[in-house]
Amino acid sequence: INASLSVDAATPVAPVHRRTFGSFVEHMGRCVYTGIYEPGHATADADGLRQDVAALVRELGVTTVRYPGGNFVSGYRWEDGIGPKDRRPVRRDLAWHSLETNQFGLDEFMTWCRRQDIEPMMAVNLGTRGLQEALDLLEYANHPGGTHLSDLRAAHGHPEPHDIRMWCLGNEMDGPWQIGHLDARSYGRKAAQVARAMKMADRDLELVVCGSSGSTMPTFGAWEATVLEETYDAVEYISLHAYYEEHDGDLASFLGAVTDMDHFIDSVVSTADAVGAKLRDRKRIQLSFDEWNVWYLSRHQALAEVQPTDDWQVAPRVIEDQYNVADAVVVGNMLISLLRHSDRVTAASQAQLANVIAPIMTEPGGPAWRQTIFHPFALTAASAAGHVLRADLDAPVQDTAKYGEVDVVDSAVTHDEETGRTAVFVVNRSVDQQVALTVDLRGLTPTEVTEALTLADEDAYAANTMDDPDRVVPQPNKSARLDGGRLTVTLPPVSWTVVTLS
Ligand code: AHR
Repeated sequence: INASLSVDAATPVAPVHRRTFGSFVEHMGRCVYTGIYEPGHATADADGLRQDVAALVRELGVTTVRYPGGNFVSGYRWEDGIGPKDRRPVRRDLAWHSLETNQFGLDEFMTWCRRQDIEPMMAVNLGTRGLQEALDLLEYANHPGGTHLSDLRAAHGHPEPHDIRMWCLGNEMDGPWQIGHLDARSYGRKAAQVARAMKMADRDLELVVCGSSGSTMPTFGAWEATVLEETYDAVEYISLHAYYEEHDGDLASFLGAVTDMDHFIDSVVSTADAVGAKLRDRKRIQLSFDEWNVWYLSRHQALAEVQPTDDWQVAPRVIEDQYNVADAVVVGNMLISLLRHSDRVTAASQAQLANVIAPIMTEPGGPAWRQTIFHPFALTAASAAGHVLRADLDAPVQDTAKYGEVDVVDSAVTHDEETGRTAVFVVNRSVDQQVALTVDLRGLTPTEVTEALTLADEDAYAANTMDDPDRVVPQPNKSARLDGGRLTVTLPPVSWTVVTLS
Protein backbone atom coordinates (compact mmCIF):
# COMPACT_ATOMS: atom_id res chain seq x y z
CA ILE A 1 0.00 0.00 0.00
CA ASN A 2 1.20 3.55 -0.72
CA ALA A 3 0.39 6.60 1.37
CA SER A 4 1.61 10.16 1.37
CA LEU A 5 1.74 13.02 3.78
CA SER A 6 2.13 16.62 2.77
CA VAL A 7 3.41 18.82 5.58
CA ASP A 8 2.65 22.53 5.62
CA ALA A 9 5.29 24.37 7.64
CA ALA A 10 3.64 27.74 7.09
CA THR A 11 0.52 27.12 9.20
CA PRO A 12 1.31 25.51 12.56
CA VAL A 13 -1.68 24.11 14.46
CA ALA A 14 -0.43 25.03 17.92
CA PRO A 15 2.60 24.74 20.18
CA VAL A 16 3.48 21.33 21.61
CA HIS A 17 2.33 21.62 25.23
CA ARG A 18 4.46 20.28 28.04
CA ARG A 19 1.30 19.12 29.81
CA THR A 20 0.37 16.77 26.95
CA PHE A 21 2.76 14.23 28.45
CA GLY A 22 1.07 13.94 31.82
CA SER A 23 0.30 10.79 33.78
CA PHE A 24 -1.89 9.77 36.68
CA VAL A 25 -1.17 8.33 40.12
CA GLU A 26 -4.28 7.07 41.89
CA HIS A 27 -4.48 5.38 45.27
CA MET A 28 -5.58 2.26 43.50
CA GLY A 29 -4.17 -1.25 43.54
CA ARG A 30 -0.37 -1.03 43.47
CA CYS A 31 0.11 2.31 41.73
CA VAL A 32 1.30 4.06 44.92
CA TYR A 33 2.10 1.19 47.30
CA THR A 34 4.82 -1.07 45.84
CA GLY A 35 4.64 1.10 42.70
CA ILE A 36 6.24 4.50 43.20
CA TYR A 37 6.50 4.03 47.01
CA GLU A 38 7.89 1.00 48.78
CA PRO A 39 9.87 1.57 51.98
CA GLY A 40 12.30 -1.29 52.45
CA HIS A 41 12.76 -1.90 48.74
CA ALA A 42 16.44 -2.21 47.79
CA THR A 43 16.26 0.95 45.67
CA ALA A 44 14.06 3.02 48.04
CA ASP A 45 15.44 6.32 49.31
CA ALA A 46 15.01 7.55 52.90
CA ASP A 47 11.43 8.55 52.07
CA GLY A 48 10.52 5.13 50.72
CA LEU A 49 10.45 6.33 47.09
CA ARG A 50 11.57 3.59 44.69
CA GLN A 51 14.50 4.91 42.70
CA ASP A 52 14.30 2.22 40.03
CA VAL A 53 10.76 3.44 39.31
CA ALA A 54 11.88 7.09 39.62
CA ALA A 55 14.48 6.49 36.88
CA LEU A 56 11.87 4.93 34.58
CA VAL A 57 9.46 7.81 35.22
CA ARG A 58 12.22 10.21 34.14
CA GLU A 59 12.92 8.16 31.04
CA LEU A 60 9.20 8.11 30.23
CA GLY A 61 9.30 11.92 30.13
CA VAL A 62 6.24 12.47 32.30
CA THR A 63 5.57 16.18 32.84
CA THR A 64 2.48 16.40 35.06
CA VAL A 65 0.78 13.89 37.36
CA ARG A 66 -2.86 13.89 38.38
CA TYR A 67 -3.44 12.73 41.98
CA PRO A 68 -4.93 11.07 44.14
CA GLY A 69 -7.78 9.79 41.91
CA GLY A 70 -9.81 8.76 40.03
CA ASN A 71 -12.75 7.08 41.70
CA PHE A 72 -10.70 6.93 44.90
CA VAL A 73 -10.85 10.70 45.41
CA SER A 74 -14.64 10.68 45.78
CA GLY A 75 -14.36 9.01 49.20
CA TYR A 76 -10.99 10.44 50.28
CA ARG A 77 -10.26 12.56 53.35
CA TRP A 78 -7.06 14.37 52.40
CA GLU A 79 -6.15 15.13 56.02
CA ASP A 80 -5.85 11.37 56.75
CA GLY A 81 -2.66 11.44 54.68
CA ILE A 82 -0.73 14.21 56.49
CA GLY A 83 1.28 14.38 59.70
CA PRO A 84 3.10 11.65 61.65
CA LYS A 85 2.68 8.35 59.84
CA ASP A 86 2.06 6.30 62.98
CA ARG A 87 -1.05 8.38 63.68
CA ARG A 88 -2.61 8.11 60.24
CA PRO A 89 -5.82 6.10 60.14
CA VAL A 90 -6.47 3.01 58.04
CA ARG A 91 -9.71 3.45 56.10
CA ARG A 92 -11.82 1.48 53.69
CA ASP A 93 -11.60 2.60 50.06
CA LEU A 94 -15.03 1.79 48.69
CA ALA A 95 -14.15 2.66 45.09
CA TRP A 96 -11.64 -0.20 44.77
CA HIS A 97 -12.79 -2.26 47.73
CA SER A 98 -9.45 -2.18 49.51
CA LEU A 99 -7.73 -0.79 52.60
CA GLU A 100 -5.99 2.57 52.50
CA THR A 101 -3.17 2.89 55.04
CA ASN A 102 -2.57 6.59 54.34
CA GLN A 103 1.18 6.09 54.65
CA PHE A 104 1.49 8.12 51.47
CA GLY A 105 -0.38 11.42 51.18
CA LEU A 106 -0.18 14.95 49.83
CA ASP A 107 3.21 15.88 51.33
CA GLU A 108 4.85 12.63 50.18
CA PHE A 109 3.35 13.11 46.73
CA MET A 110 4.71 16.65 46.53
CA THR A 111 8.18 15.50 47.63
CA TRP A 112 8.07 12.86 44.88
CA CYS A 113 6.87 15.43 42.27
CA ARG A 114 9.58 17.95 43.09
CA ARG A 115 12.32 15.32 42.90
CA GLN A 116 10.98 14.11 39.57
CA ASP A 117 10.51 17.67 38.21
CA ILE A 118 6.83 16.87 37.71
CA GLU A 119 3.98 19.36 37.92
CA PRO A 120 1.20 18.18 40.27
CA MET A 121 -2.46 18.22 39.27
CA MET A 122 -4.61 17.76 42.36
CA ALA A 123 -8.19 16.53 42.54
CA VAL A 124 -10.64 17.52 45.27
CA ASN A 125 -13.35 15.23 46.60
CA LEU A 126 -16.79 16.34 45.40
CA GLY A 127 -18.35 12.95 46.15
CA THR A 128 -18.58 12.56 49.93
CA ARG A 129 -17.31 16.10 50.50
CA GLY A 130 -17.58 19.62 49.17
CA LEU A 131 -16.66 23.29 49.42
CA GLN A 132 -15.15 23.54 52.90
CA GLU A 133 -12.84 20.55 52.52
CA ALA A 134 -11.67 21.78 49.10
CA LEU A 135 -10.84 25.17 50.60
CA ASP A 136 -9.04 23.55 53.54
CA LEU A 137 -6.96 21.43 51.20
CA LEU A 138 -6.12 24.49 49.10
CA GLU A 139 -5.06 26.42 52.22
CA TYR A 140 -2.90 23.55 53.47
CA ALA A 141 -1.29 23.08 50.06
CA ASN A 142 -0.81 26.61 48.80
CA HIS A 143 -1.06 29.28 51.50
CA PRO A 144 2.42 30.67 52.28
CA GLY A 145 2.08 30.65 56.09
CA GLY A 146 0.59 32.28 59.18
CA THR A 147 -2.74 30.45 59.04
CA HIS A 148 -3.79 27.31 60.89
CA LEU A 149 -3.50 24.92 57.95
CA SER A 150 -0.43 26.46 56.30
CA ASP A 151 1.36 26.40 59.66
CA LEU A 152 0.36 22.77 60.02
CA ARG A 153 2.01 22.04 56.68
CA ALA A 154 5.16 23.81 57.89
CA ALA A 155 5.05 21.79 61.13
CA HIS A 156 4.95 18.67 58.97
CA GLY A 157 8.24 19.69 57.39
CA HIS A 158 7.01 21.68 54.39
CA PRO A 159 7.47 25.39 55.14
CA GLU A 160 7.31 26.34 51.45
CA PRO A 161 3.86 26.25 49.85
CA HIS A 162 3.33 23.40 47.42
CA ASP A 163 1.99 25.95 44.91
CA ILE A 164 -0.30 23.57 43.02
CA ARG A 165 -1.70 25.37 39.99
CA MET A 166 -4.04 22.82 38.40
CA TRP A 167 -7.05 21.42 40.30
CA CYS A 168 -9.72 18.93 39.21
CA LEU A 169 -13.20 19.57 40.59
CA GLY A 170 -14.03 15.97 41.48
CA ASN A 171 -13.81 12.91 39.25
CA GLU A 172 -16.26 11.35 36.75
CA MET A 173 -19.25 12.75 38.59
CA ASP A 174 -21.49 11.66 35.68
CA GLY A 175 -20.79 7.97 36.41
CA PRO A 176 -23.41 6.06 38.45
CA TRP A 177 -20.45 4.13 39.97
CA GLN A 178 -19.02 7.33 41.42
CA ILE A 179 -19.42 7.79 45.18
CA GLY A 180 -21.75 10.79 45.49
CA HIS A 181 -22.67 10.71 41.77
CA LEU A 182 -24.73 13.76 40.73
CA ASP A 183 -26.87 14.79 37.80
CA ALA A 184 -25.34 17.41 35.50
CA ARG A 185 -27.17 20.45 36.91
CA SER A 186 -26.42 19.55 40.55
CA TYR A 187 -22.78 18.82 39.79
CA GLY A 188 -22.43 21.98 37.70
CA ARG A 189 -23.77 24.12 40.53
CA LYS A 190 -21.59 22.42 43.13
CA ALA A 191 -18.47 22.68 40.97
CA ALA A 192 -19.21 26.35 40.22
CA GLN A 193 -19.45 27.17 43.93
CA VAL A 194 -16.22 25.37 44.70
CA ALA A 195 -14.45 26.96 41.72
CA ARG A 196 -15.55 30.50 42.62
CA ALA A 197 -14.48 30.11 46.25
CA MET A 198 -11.13 28.57 45.30
CA LYS A 199 -10.52 31.52 43.00
CA MET A 200 -11.30 33.92 45.85
CA ALA A 201 -8.24 32.42 47.50
CA ASP A 202 -6.14 32.51 44.31
CA ARG A 203 -7.55 33.84 41.05
CA ASP A 204 -4.70 32.32 39.00
CA LEU A 205 -5.59 28.70 39.72
CA GLU A 206 -6.38 26.55 36.68
CA LEU A 207 -9.53 24.55 37.30
CA VAL A 208 -10.78 21.46 35.49
CA VAL A 209 -14.49 20.66 35.59
CA CYS A 210 -15.60 17.06 35.01
CA GLY A 211 -16.76 16.24 31.51
CA SER A 212 -18.20 12.82 30.73
CA SER A 213 -16.35 9.71 31.82
CA GLY A 214 -16.59 8.52 28.23
CA SER A 215 -18.28 9.41 24.95
CA THR A 216 -20.53 6.33 25.22
CA MET A 217 -22.18 7.61 28.40
CA PRO A 218 -25.91 8.15 27.81
CA THR A 219 -25.60 11.72 29.11
CA PHE A 220 -22.56 12.58 26.94
CA GLY A 221 -22.97 15.95 25.25
CA ALA A 222 -25.88 17.11 27.38
CA TRP A 223 -23.65 16.68 30.45
CA GLU A 224 -20.91 18.91 29.02
CA ALA A 225 -23.41 21.58 27.93
CA THR A 226 -25.18 21.75 31.30
CA VAL A 227 -22.02 21.63 33.40
CA LEU A 228 -20.39 24.37 31.32
CA GLU A 229 -23.51 26.55 31.47
CA GLU A 230 -23.04 26.56 35.25
CA THR A 231 -19.25 26.85 35.40
CA TYR A 232 -18.09 28.61 32.21
CA ASP A 233 -16.79 31.78 33.85
CA ALA A 234 -15.06 29.95 36.72
CA VAL A 235 -13.09 27.15 35.03
CA GLU A 236 -10.35 26.86 32.41
CA TYR A 237 -10.70 23.21 31.43
CA ILE A 238 -13.24 20.46 30.89
CA SER A 239 -12.04 16.86 31.24
CA LEU A 240 -12.29 13.92 28.81
CA HIS A 241 -11.69 10.25 29.61
CA ALA A 242 -11.34 7.41 27.09
CA TYR A 243 -10.18 3.81 27.26
CA TYR A 244 -10.03 1.38 24.34
CA GLU A 245 -9.55 -2.38 24.17
CA GLU A 246 -9.66 -5.13 21.57
CA HIS A 247 -13.00 -6.96 21.64
CA ASP A 248 -13.54 -10.53 20.38
CA GLY A 249 -10.35 -10.68 18.32
CA ASP A 250 -11.38 -7.69 16.17
CA LEU A 251 -7.91 -6.23 15.80
CA ALA A 252 -8.82 -4.00 12.83
CA SER A 253 -11.46 -2.12 14.83
CA PHE A 254 -9.16 -1.81 17.81
CA LEU A 255 -6.41 -0.32 15.63
CA GLY A 256 -8.96 2.17 14.29
CA ALA A 257 -10.14 3.27 17.75
CA VAL A 258 -8.44 6.64 17.58
CA THR A 259 -10.95 7.81 14.97
CA ASP A 260 -13.41 7.60 17.87
CA MET A 261 -11.07 9.63 20.08
CA ASP A 262 -10.74 12.29 17.35
CA HIS A 263 -14.52 12.52 17.09
CA PHE A 264 -14.86 12.70 20.88
CA ILE A 265 -12.44 15.64 21.07
CA ASP A 266 -14.13 17.48 18.20
CA SER A 267 -17.54 16.98 19.83
CA VAL A 268 -16.42 18.41 23.17
CA VAL A 269 -14.80 21.40 21.44
CA SER A 270 -18.05 22.10 19.54
CA THR A 271 -20.17 21.71 22.66
CA ALA A 272 -17.94 24.00 24.72
CA ASP A 273 -17.90 26.63 21.99
CA ALA A 274 -21.68 26.44 21.60
CA VAL A 275 -22.09 27.16 25.32
CA GLY A 276 -19.59 30.03 25.03
CA ALA A 277 -21.63 31.49 22.16
CA LYS A 278 -24.87 31.17 24.11
CA LEU A 279 -23.33 32.88 27.11
CA ARG A 280 -21.73 35.58 24.90
CA ASP A 281 -18.39 34.63 26.43
CA ARG A 282 -15.36 34.79 24.15
CA LYS A 283 -13.21 32.71 26.47
CA ARG A 284 -12.19 29.36 24.97
CA ILE A 285 -12.50 26.40 27.31
CA GLN A 286 -9.48 24.10 27.02
CA LEU A 287 -9.62 20.31 27.08
CA SER A 288 -7.84 18.23 29.69
CA PHE A 289 -7.75 14.63 28.42
CA ASP A 290 -6.93 13.51 31.93
CA GLU A 291 -7.56 9.77 31.61
CA TRP A 292 -6.65 7.91 28.42
CA ASN A 293 -5.15 4.54 27.64
CA VAL A 294 -5.78 0.99 26.49
CA TRP A 295 -7.65 -0.79 29.28
CA TYR A 296 -9.12 -4.31 29.14
CA LEU A 297 -12.05 -2.95 31.12
CA SER A 298 -14.46 -5.74 30.18
CA ARG A 299 -12.15 -8.30 31.86
CA HIS A 300 -12.03 -6.16 35.00
CA GLN A 301 -15.80 -5.79 35.07
CA ALA A 302 -16.28 -9.55 34.77
CA LEU A 303 -13.84 -10.12 37.66
CA ALA A 304 -15.37 -7.38 39.83
CA GLU A 305 -18.77 -9.08 39.62
CA VAL A 306 -17.46 -12.21 41.32
CA GLN A 307 -15.16 -10.49 43.82
CA PRO A 308 -16.08 -11.41 47.43
CA THR A 309 -17.24 -8.40 49.46
CA ASP A 310 -15.61 -9.54 52.71
CA ASP A 311 -12.11 -9.34 51.25
CA TRP A 312 -10.33 -6.06 52.17
CA GLN A 313 -6.67 -5.98 51.18
CA VAL A 314 -3.95 -3.34 51.24
CA ALA A 315 -2.68 -2.58 47.72
CA PRO A 316 -4.19 -5.62 45.98
CA ARG A 317 -3.34 -6.42 42.36
CA VAL A 318 -6.05 -4.53 40.46
CA ILE A 319 -6.24 -4.11 36.65
CA GLU A 320 -2.59 -4.96 36.06
CA ASP A 321 -3.06 -5.28 32.32
CA GLN A 322 -0.13 -6.70 30.36
CA TYR A 323 0.28 -4.80 27.11
CA ASN A 324 1.20 -6.12 23.69
CA VAL A 325 2.45 -4.63 20.41
CA ALA A 326 -1.04 -3.72 19.16
CA ASP A 327 -1.76 -1.94 22.46
CA ALA A 328 1.44 0.09 22.04
CA VAL A 329 0.42 1.06 18.49
CA VAL A 330 -2.95 2.30 19.76
CA VAL A 331 -1.26 4.21 22.60
CA GLY A 332 1.14 5.80 20.08
CA ASN A 333 -1.88 6.68 17.94
CA MET A 334 -3.66 8.25 20.91
CA LEU A 335 -0.62 10.49 21.42
CA ILE A 336 -0.78 11.42 17.73
CA SER A 337 -4.41 12.45 18.22
CA LEU A 338 -3.56 14.50 21.32
CA LEU A 339 -0.76 16.29 19.46
CA ARG A 340 -2.94 16.96 16.43
CA HIS A 341 -5.54 18.56 18.71
CA SER A 342 -3.01 20.70 20.57
CA ASP A 343 -4.99 23.82 19.68
CA ARG A 344 -7.60 22.79 22.27
CA VAL A 345 -6.23 19.79 24.19
CA THR A 346 -3.59 21.51 26.28
CA ALA A 347 -3.29 18.96 29.08
CA ALA A 348 -3.53 15.17 29.20
CA SER A 349 -2.79 12.34 31.63
CA GLN A 350 -2.24 8.76 30.66
CA ALA A 351 -3.97 6.50 33.19
CA GLN A 352 -2.02 5.32 35.10
CA LEU A 353 1.72 5.45 35.84
CA ALA A 354 2.71 2.26 37.69
CA ASN A 355 1.19 -1.25 37.78
CA VAL A 356 -2.44 -0.15 37.30
CA ILE A 357 -2.99 -0.09 33.47
CA ALA A 358 0.49 1.33 33.36
CA PRO A 359 3.62 1.74 31.23
CA ILE A 360 5.76 0.83 34.26
CA MET A 361 5.42 -2.51 36.07
CA THR A 362 7.03 -3.52 39.36
CA GLU A 363 7.28 -6.52 41.63
CA PRO A 364 7.14 -5.90 45.39
CA GLY A 365 10.76 -6.29 46.53
CA GLY A 366 11.68 -7.05 42.93
CA PRO A 367 12.43 -5.37 39.61
CA ALA A 368 10.68 -2.67 37.60
CA TRP A 369 10.27 -2.92 33.84
CA ARG A 370 8.85 -1.20 30.77
CA GLN A 371 5.61 -2.42 29.19
CA THR A 372 5.26 -2.13 25.39
CA ILE A 373 3.21 1.08 25.78
CA PHE A 374 6.13 2.72 27.58
CA HIS A 375 8.06 3.13 24.33
CA PRO A 376 5.74 5.26 22.16
CA PHE A 377 5.05 7.49 25.16
CA ALA A 378 8.73 8.01 26.00
CA LEU A 379 9.76 8.60 22.40
CA THR A 380 6.90 10.99 21.68
CA ALA A 381 7.57 12.97 24.87
CA ALA A 382 11.26 13.17 23.96
CA SER A 383 10.86 14.03 20.26
CA ALA A 384 7.77 16.26 19.99
CA ALA A 385 8.90 19.87 20.30
CA GLY A 386 8.14 23.33 19.00
CA HIS A 387 4.89 23.38 17.03
CA VAL A 388 2.52 20.79 15.63
CA LEU A 389 2.28 21.27 11.87
CA ARG A 390 -0.66 20.79 9.58
CA ALA A 391 -0.24 17.66 7.45
CA ASP A 392 -2.51 16.45 4.65
CA LEU A 393 -2.78 12.71 4.46
CA ASP A 394 -3.53 10.72 1.33
CA ALA A 395 -3.96 7.09 2.38
CA PRO A 396 -6.29 4.21 1.53
CA VAL A 397 -9.04 3.35 3.97
CA GLN A 398 -9.85 0.01 5.53
CA ASP A 399 -13.24 -1.17 6.64
CA THR A 400 -13.74 -1.86 10.35
CA ALA A 401 -16.74 -3.47 12.03
CA LYS A 402 -16.86 -0.91 14.81
CA TYR A 403 -15.80 2.41 13.27
CA GLY A 404 -16.58 2.00 9.56
CA GLU A 405 -13.91 3.24 7.13
CA VAL A 406 -10.64 4.17 8.79
CA ASP A 407 -7.49 5.63 7.20
CA VAL A 408 -4.82 2.96 7.20
CA VAL A 409 -2.23 5.53 8.29
CA ASP A 410 -2.42 8.22 10.94
CA SER A 411 0.23 10.79 11.70
CA ALA A 412 1.35 13.98 13.44
CA VAL A 413 4.36 16.15 12.66
CA THR A 414 6.18 18.60 14.93
CA HIS A 415 8.89 21.11 14.14
CA ASP A 416 11.09 23.06 16.51
CA GLU A 417 12.33 26.30 14.97
CA GLU A 418 14.99 26.75 17.64
CA THR A 419 16.76 23.44 17.09
CA GLY A 420 15.63 22.90 13.49
CA ARG A 421 14.40 19.41 14.44
CA THR A 422 11.36 17.83 12.83
CA ALA A 423 9.62 14.71 14.14
CA VAL A 424 7.17 12.57 12.18
CA PHE A 425 4.99 10.21 14.25
CA VAL A 426 3.06 7.65 12.25
CA VAL A 427 1.07 4.47 12.72
CA ASN A 428 0.23 1.75 10.23
CA ARG A 429 -3.18 0.45 11.33
CA SER A 430 -3.36 -2.33 8.76
CA VAL A 431 -3.37 -5.80 10.31
CA ASP A 432 -1.48 -7.37 7.41
CA GLN A 433 -0.29 -4.82 4.83
CA GLN A 434 2.99 -2.97 4.75
CA VAL A 435 2.77 0.75 3.84
CA ALA A 436 5.25 2.71 1.76
CA LEU A 437 4.95 6.26 3.09
CA THR A 438 6.21 9.39 1.37
CA VAL A 439 6.38 12.60 3.38
CA ASP A 440 6.67 15.87 1.51
CA LEU A 441 8.28 18.31 3.95
CA ARG A 442 7.40 21.52 2.11
CA GLY A 443 9.00 24.63 3.56
CA LEU A 444 11.29 22.68 5.86
CA THR A 445 14.89 22.03 4.94
CA PRO A 446 16.05 18.92 6.79
CA THR A 447 19.42 17.56 5.72
CA GLU A 448 19.46 14.22 7.47
CA VAL A 449 17.42 11.53 9.19
CA THR A 450 18.66 11.68 12.78
CA GLU A 451 16.81 8.60 13.91
CA ALA A 452 14.05 6.30 12.65
CA LEU A 453 12.54 3.83 15.12
CA THR A 454 9.66 1.41 14.64
CA LEU A 455 7.77 -0.63 17.18
CA ALA A 456 6.39 -3.75 15.47
CA ASP A 457 6.65 -7.53 15.71
CA GLU A 458 5.75 -10.61 13.70
CA ASP A 459 3.44 -11.32 16.60
CA ALA A 460 1.10 -8.37 17.27
CA TYR A 461 0.35 -9.91 20.67
CA ALA A 462 3.97 -10.13 21.87
CA ALA A 463 4.44 -8.50 25.29
CA ASN A 464 7.13 -7.63 27.82
CA THR A 465 7.16 -9.55 31.08
CA MET A 466 9.26 -9.58 34.24
CA ASP A 467 11.27 -12.50 32.84
CA ASP A 468 11.56 -11.06 29.35
CA PRO A 469 11.28 -7.28 29.86
CA ASP A 470 12.77 -6.29 26.49
CA ARG A 471 10.91 -8.73 24.26
CA VAL A 472 9.32 -5.73 22.49
CA VAL A 473 11.46 -2.62 21.97
CA PRO A 474 11.54 -0.12 19.11
CA GLN A 475 14.06 -1.08 16.42
CA PRO A 476 15.92 1.12 13.93
CA ASN A 477 13.90 1.45 10.74
CA LYS A 478 16.58 1.18 8.06
CA SER A 479 14.19 1.99 5.22
CA ALA A 480 13.99 5.70 6.14
CA ARG A 481 15.56 7.89 3.42
CA LEU A 482 15.65 11.63 2.88
CA ASP A 483 15.93 12.86 -0.67
CA GLY A 484 15.66 16.62 -1.05
CA GLY A 485 12.61 17.58 1.00
CA ARG A 486 11.07 14.13 0.64
CA LEU A 487 11.17 11.41 3.27
CA THR A 488 10.32 7.82 2.40
CA VAL A 489 9.86 5.10 4.97
CA THR A 490 8.32 1.62 5.00
CA LEU A 491 5.89 0.86 7.80
CA PRO A 492 5.25 -2.78 8.74
CA PRO A 493 1.66 -3.81 9.57
CA VAL A 494 0.49 -2.99 13.13
CA SER A 495 3.33 -0.57 13.79
CA TRP A 496 4.22 2.76 15.34
CA THR A 497 7.14 4.78 13.98
CA VAL A 498 8.98 7.98 14.81
CA VAL A 499 11.39 9.62 12.37
CA THR A 500 13.41 12.61 13.54
CA LEU A 501 15.11 14.88 11.05
CA SER A 502 17.47 17.79 11.37
O1 AHR B 1 -8.07 4.81 35.90
C1 AHR B 1 -8.97 3.90 36.47
C2 AHR B 1 -10.33 4.49 36.76
O2 AHR B 1 -10.97 4.79 35.55
C3 AHR B 1 -10.38 5.81 37.49
O3 AHR B 1 -10.32 5.68 38.86
C4 AHR B 1 -11.71 6.37 37.08
O4 AHR B 1 -11.70 7.78 37.10
C5 AHR B 1 -11.95 5.78 35.72
O5 AHR B 1 -13.22 5.24 35.62
